[in-house]
Amino acid sequence: MNEHHSWHKVGSPDDLVDDSFLEFTLIKGNPEDQTTDQRGFVFRRNGKVYGYLNRCPHLGIELNWMPGRFMDSDNCFIQCSTHGALFLPDSGECIAGPCQGEALVSLEVAESRDAIEVRLPE
Ligand code: FES
Repeated sequence: MNEHHSWHKVGSPDDLVDDSFLEFTLIKGNPEDQTTDQRGFVFRRNGKVYGYLNRCPHLGIELNWMPGRFMDSDNCFIQCSTHGALFLPDSGECIAGPCQGEALVSLEVAESRDAIEVRLPE
């Protein structure tokens, strides 16, 4: 297993009340090999924690225009702030917009009494 697939602690359960988001850098980019940071976010919805890479499948850019703001105005779908694509919160599937039928890259999430951890799927 390489470091990209290892678990990263991104917060504690107390940091993540229902409908709140935590953002983090999962993998640091390196200008020498022209890689950029891979950022992600987790959120809690109806008690369950979900995590995704913060990367819109349309243009590969970050979804949010403000820290911690990912949902549409009705708080139903994750929304890309650039062209408005809508994603199902529990699967990351894009159901409307220019990348309809594609999906956010979901992260594996593990929650224990004092940590929320994520990793990229193998
Ligand atoms: S970059 Fe996300 S919908 Fe276009």
